[in-house]
Amino acid sequence: MLKSRISEMERARRISEIMVQDALVFCGMAGDAVRYHRVNRLQIGGKGAYARGFPVAEVTVSVSPQPGSSQESRAQRPLRIALFGFGTVGSSVARILVESRPQGLELTHIFNRGVERKRVDWVPASVVWSDDADGVIGSGVDVVVELAGGMEPAGGWVRRALEAGKSVVTANKRLIAFHGVELERLAAVQGGHLKYGAAVAGGIPVIPGLEQGLAGDRIDRVEGILNGTCNFILSKMEDGADYAAVLKQAQQAGYAEADPIEDVGGFDARAKLSILMRLALRVEVDPEEIVPRPITDVSPVDFSYAHDLGCTIRQVARAEKSQGGVAATVGPMLVAVRSPLAWSRGTENMVILSGHYGGDVVFSGHGAGGHPTAVAVVSDLVALAHGSRRVEVASVPGVVGAEFEVPHYIRFLVKDRPGIVAAITSALAAEKINIRAIVQKPGYPAEALPFVVTVEPCRSSALKRALESVRALDCMIAEPLDLQMLE
Ligand SMILES: NC(=O)c1ccc[n+]([C@@H]2O[C@H](COP(=O)([O-])OP(=O)(O)OC[C@H]3O[C@@H](n4cnc5c(N)ncnc54)[C@H](OP(=O)(O)O)[C@@H]3O)[C@@H](O)[C@H]2O)c1
Repeated sequence: MLKSRISEMERARRISEIMVQDALVFCGMAGDAVRYHRVNRLQIGGKGAYARGFPVAEVTVSVSPQPGSSQESRAQRPLRIALFGFGTVGSSVARILVESRPQGLELTHIFNRGVERKRVDWVPASVVWSDDADGVIGSGVDVVVELAGGMEPAGGWVRRALEAGKSVVTANKRLIAFHGVELERLAAVQGGHLKYGAAVAGGIPVIPGLEQGLAGDRIDRVEGILNGTCNFILSKMEDGADYAAVLKQAQQAGYAEADPIEDVGGFDARAKLSILMRLALRVEVDPEEIVPRPITDVSPVDFSYAHDLGCTIRQVARAEKSQGGVAATVGPMLVAVRSPLAWSRGTENMVILSGHYGGDVVFSGHGAGGHPTAVAVVSDLVALAHGSRRVEVASVPGVVGAEFEVPHYIRFLVKDRPGIVAAITSALAAEKINIRAIVQKPGYPAEALPFVVTVEPCRSSALKRALESVRALDCMIAEPLDLQMLE
């Protein structure tokens, strides 16, 4: 790989068009997003170089390896793989590499802190076990597989590996959600690859599906169940279980952390949604702009009312392009029992991608677990070994500025007295929100009476304003619970 900068191109100012081989160009004007493209020709004008009509800020020219070079010899041997993190997913990846021996892949290093306690006898003796991260990155490995998780030190290992020209495969959704664009750019500059097919929906190939199978469509909407822990809890609650009991069961089964806030608070799903938004909607958003709603506000009575409305409740992550920009949200929602989202039970994940040309495509399967997630990691490695290049996804920075206009379910818990429904209907009317139905099931005490109002499609902000005045009523025992309804 030979690299030269734009200054060298500048010397060719008099040439109106030059041919290059697989040049990586960074284009952008002041204030614009910088995009990179691979091109084979550059136009040189009076003010510098242009590619595909954009001014070029920087160029890296790649030249095919000469016979006998180290690059060519790489093509004749397996990719040397270093695993960083030998936990649930890391040990499953090792297991598949050792048992299935995918062509073109060789496990050479395993890095973990306190590595001696991690050794297992089924890993071949040739594999080096190490607790020196930089020593492994500096060795002759080709791919670092980061499966430790968290932002640091994992982010530092990934950066150093990419800077050293290695490729990286990771399942680390937080790292990719917050730093994916920057890391992909670093990989492209240094001649490596960054793959993260396991970072969203574990073993379900949503990311490869988007990068390849759906690259020809224009995706307008992404909707899915992206957190297996929440799906396990909510589908058990649908069957009558109590939240606290089912959370404990999830923790005992290893589905939920001791501190479950990342999952039940919606933070895990929003990180995954932001990754999907970049790949599917081609919009880069700060994950923190997506305000998640916790599933902890949902109670058994909501499942009972949802059932009467022909629905159940799931934690749904959804994003959509609209005229006002992009809308994105994560939280518990009512989904129709006939909708595919209602079919996914237990720890399953599901993603529905709505294409402008191809219509809806549904992905479903195991969104987590050592083996399913390891399959996605090994599939990324196999793709690297076969030299398959990622389809370039040009995305632009965006803000979550638009709102969904959907029907809502609002559950009130009140100490019954005359005039409550009148107060609610007048607050909704003041925001021009039409009531669809008022449902009150018998059998609840008048001192703590739950009842539900459903409304026609409206913006969450208008509903929020309407509920401001309602929540001040002295009969309200709890905050009204407002859930979007997906039809
Ligand atoms: N598990 C899943 O179902 C799943 C699904 C999709 C994506 N992922 C992602 O996959 C990654 C790995 O998850 P996992 O479930 O396999 O985690 P895990 O079981 O906790 O394994 C992490 C491994 O990394 C090691 N490690 C952590 N921090 C380290 C450090 N600072 N220095 C050296 N070693 C360190 C841990 O060592 P110790 O034993 O000393 O802690 C452990 O062996 C995460 O990014 C996760 O979000 C997991």
